[in-house]
Amino acid sequence: MSQPVRFLTGITTTGTPHLGNYVGAIRPTVQASRRAGIENFYFLADYHALIKCDEPSRIQRSTLEIAACWLAAGLDPEHVYFYRQSDIPEIPELTWLLTCVTGKGLLNRAHAYKAAVDKNNAAGVDPDADVTAGLFMYPVLMAADIVLFNAHKVPVGRDQVQHLEMARDMAASFNHLYGEHFTLPEAQVDEQVSTLPGLDGRKMSKSYDNVIALFGPREQVRKQIFSIVTDSRAPGEPKAVEGSALFQIYQAFADAQETEAMRKAYADGIAWADAKQVLFERIDREVAPMRARYDALVADPAELERILQRGAQKARAIATPFIGRLRHAVGLRNLSAQAASTGNKGKGKASLPAFKQFRESDGLHYFKLVDAAGALLLHSQGFQSPQEAGRVVARLRQEGLDAVGDAARCAPGVDPAAVREALALLAAA
Ligand code: TRP
Repeated sequence: MSQPVRFLTGITTTGTPHLGNYVGAIRPTVQASRRAGIENFYFLADYHALIKCDEPSRIQRSTLEIAACWLAAGLDPEHVYFYRQSDIPEIPELTWLLTCVTGKGLLNRAHAYKAAVDKNNAAGVDPDADVTAGLFMYPVLMAADIVLFNAHKVPVGRDQVQHLEMARDMAASFNHLYGEHFTLPEAQVDEQVSTLPGLDGRKMSKSYDNVIALFGPREQVRKQIFSIVTDSRAPGEPKAVEGSALFQIYQAFADAQETEAMRKAYADGIAWADAKQVLFERIDREVAPMRARYDALVADPAELERILQRGAQKARAIATPFIGRLRHAVGLRNLSAQAASTGNKGKGKASLPAFKQFRESDGLHYFKLVDAAGALLLHSQGFQSPQEAGRVVARLRQEGLDAVGDAARCAPGVDPAAVREALALLAAA
């Protein structure tokens, strides 16, 4: 396969983009989208938004603003796939196909769901109080987003890494049952990308109410910048750059020379008000040209709609034939076509735990042990050859878990006893 590497990422449409989103996600992603030899998929995750938000007008507004924001920041919809999740009916269709190969136990272990249950338990209420099935199914919808386009790399924040592991699991289960249809995707967590501090010095986040608007009116942005918390040092007193939110935000926009000049101004005792003015002007210099485009797009929703529809058309040119193949693979077929049995492993095997061997995009060979429902019990380290992986599997089967040391580890939250039981079940079969 000489397919170009595919990058894919989704943005949940529940908020208004702020400076932290811009520095942490939008700017690096738009830059990355210009690299040659890769295909990029960026989409507005509005089905995901429904899980968190039940205000229709907010969903609509956020979708508009986020779409406008990406385009204003320079995303070229001709060069990438830029679409809205809910315009791709193949995504919910694939969600169901994946749902049927996903162990409920796997979803029980998802951090977001577990956190909700823990909170309920701590409050002494029903464990599932106020937990929607949407929250529970979140990882399956996300997996469908990714594997529908056979994405190789998924740039996400740390908090999403578990979702990627689950997506790989679901894809591997499907492949195991129905043939090799899906690429196993990989999370790409960029440690370089800066998290911007907010007005109070904590991470800039809507939930802390400490954000600086990205495309707010200039006066609003100025006011927000002037409310960044500083210490009480007077004009003329030297100031420390360490721990200064103002300095960190400046650094995210300034080049090396400008940063040096600001460092010196701090040492020379620049007044906080002057430093804030410099920061405001530096940000405005980068954002002002984009703001014009942003305002134009937001004022012309029909144009945005047209761009998204075109994006959906491009994306569906891939998704529609692919879902056709997947439907066929699972047996959702035109009845006049002759029955075939390829790839079907039969029901007998599904009631036992199983070892699965696979190769990753890092070129190494891995195996894992899943329980009868497909939930991950154990995963291996990478091996140079499939034979090497096979030898460790054989040893596990014959000598048990303790015989293989670090070569294979229990999945997070899985008790070694569960692995031993699975091995015993396999030995008895
Ligand atoms: N869950 C992601 C977030 O909250 C958004 C998202 C939805 C996503 N589907 C995706 C990210 C697919 C990457 C790939 O940040």
